[in-house]
Amino acid sequence: MYVIIGSKGQLGTALQAQYPDARAVDSDELDITDTDAVNAFDWSGVDVILNAAAYTNVDGAETADGRIAAWQVNAQGPANLARIANQHDITLVHVSTDYVFDGAQGPHTEDEAFSPLGVYGQAKAAGDIAVGLTNKHYILRTSWVIGEGKNFVRTMLGLAARDISPSVVGDQIGRLTFTGELVRATAHLLEAKSTYGTYNVSNSGDATSWADVTRAIYSLAGRDDLTVTDTTTSEYFASKPEASPRPLNGVLSLDKLTATGFQSKDWREDLIAYVTKETA
Ligand SMILES: NC(=O)c1ccc[n+]([C@@H]2O[C@H](COP(=O)([O-])OP(=O)(O)OC[C@H]3O[C@@H](n4cnc5c(N)ncnc54)[C@H](OP(=O)(O)O)[C@@H]3O)[C@@H](O)[C@H]2O)c1
Repeated sequence: MYVIIGSKGQLGTALQAQYPDARAVDSDELDITDTDAVNAFDWSGVDVILNAAAYTNVDGAETADGRIAAWQVNAQGPANLARIANQHDITLVHVSTDYVFDGAQGPHTEDEAFSPLGVYGQAKAAGDIAVGLTNKHYILRTSWVIGEGKNFVRTMLGLAARDISPSVVGDQIGRLTFTGELVRATAHLLEAKSTYGTYNVSNSGDATSWADVTRAIYSLAGRDDLTVTDTTTSEYFASKPEASPRPLNGVLSLDKLTATGFQSKDWREDLIAYVTKETA
């Protein structure tokens, strides 16, 4: 049996579609930071834990309360699950982020040393270390996730619908990752019984800036009449001193995943399908 944790988030929702027979729980049913609750959960018959739970408010993690929450959910929570996985001989699938790196260069390989700039990335790196200690684990390291929920593509479609010509950061580069791609990679690694460890997972295709992604979104939404202007990270965040620093280069090398026989899909292909559905 599979258990999906954080089942109402972007990734959790997509995992439920792939594994309809899985037991799906969100924070209201199983809070992974609550060690007693994690210990008391019925793990009998569970083969795989799919952990999609996370504190994903990158800027919120820089606040006094957010710092505590980010460390609890992104570090203590995965450590609780790691302990359970080892005790019950369960395979633990966990999700990491390009924010564990400073982004001074890329593409990032799986064995690059951690160098997180902000609290979110620091706590995620700690979670990766804990999960990495389990006997049977897959850590899917990903970037720029787009699924059912609040995300960049929906935000930009909202601006386009309000006739706004936005200024968007042009010096952070990466690749979108549609949740379908994370689900496909999860299923592939589990079914192929790939060697346990960390695998980068994003869509393939050209590495682009957020500004370029926005131009692609506007174009697909039929809003070439509006202009997307490049701004820099430092300009954009000048008026937001409370915001978290972000890695400039979040591009993930897909070589290790490709070597397992997985073919990543171009982000532009998935973006077309996503925007078409959102604007229908
Ligand atoms: N979003 C991105 O751009 C991005 C980029 C790189 C990596 N990632 C990683 O990808 C994974 C999935 O992200 P996502 O975008 O799907 O996240 P998301 O939409 O923010 O969903 C996170 C889910 O985790 C749940 N959760 C929070 N605290 C919990 C707790 N203590 N116990 C149990 N569940 C808890 C949330 O429930 P509540 O709403 O009830 O709190 C929510 O359902 C995460 O590991 C994230 O770090 C995301």
